[in-house]
Amino acid sequence: MKLALIASLAGSAAAFTSAPVKSSSALYMSETPTAVEETVEETVVAIEEEIVVVEEPKYMTINGWTADENKPLYGLPGAIAPLGFFDPLGFSKDVELTGAKRLREAEIMHGRVAMMATVGYLIGESTPTITYGMDVHHTIANNQIPEVPGTVLFPFFLAINISEALRASRGWVEPGMGPVFTLRENYYPGDIGFDPLGLKPNDAEGFVNMQNREISNGRLAMFAAAGMCVQEQINGKGILENLGF
Ligand SMILES: *[C@@H]1O[C@H](CO)[C@@H](O)[C@H](O)[C@H]1NC(C)=O
Repeated sequence: MKLALIASLAGSAAAFTSAPVKSSSALYMSETPTAVEETVEETVVAIEEEIVVVEEPKYMTINGWTADENKPLYGLPGAIAPLGFFDPLGFSKDVELTGAKRLREAEIMHGRVAMMATVGYLIGESTPTITYGMDVHHTIANNQIPEVPGTVLFPFFLAINISEALRASRGWVEPGMGPVFTLRENYYPGDIGFDPLGLKPNDAEGFVNMQNREISNGRLAMFAAAGMCVQEQINGKGILENLGF
């Protein structure tokens, strides 16, 4: 910057030199403006580069993911082969970032519940005496729950209530503290911090792989759990019974 100032002063001084020295300064003058221009240009470029470095990123990076408006669902994982990004009804089209995160949060949570439901179905029907401490005669999709006494069910519902309350406080903006129905800016959908075995990878690529596996298993489990409900309601038999066990 100092250099640019000196150069421009030299340029203007040369411009005001009197007539007699004009001829001798002609050569000087013809070169000086380009040198000044170059210096000014270099200075401007240098300042611009500095501005770019200082600029804040628009979206924060969480678990190696930075929202990208140009990618489907802001570049969140889950576009898995063979279908790739699959959204024929366009649920995620034109949604804002918070809407996209909410869709993924719902998908992950439904997937997790369905994975537990699928396993729970088989356990609840094959070993009810261990699961409930009593024998039950109905299948799960055909009134098993009313058959189980409230004293047994209460701990289950309490556990759901507590875990849902924890999830809400981790992931969601408190009512009255901002827009309602909004996930926190620094919350990654599904990352409620529950990882007792320390399985969460630290690198971005490993995290995406694990996300893709969880999402795949969750999607499969949603179909499986729905299929089990429908199957039991069609013929009234338990799933293992249907399979011939
Ligand atoms: C937990 O149960 C209480 C009492 O019924 C209820 O007010 C609260 O909304 C429940 N919390 C969640 C997250 O379901």
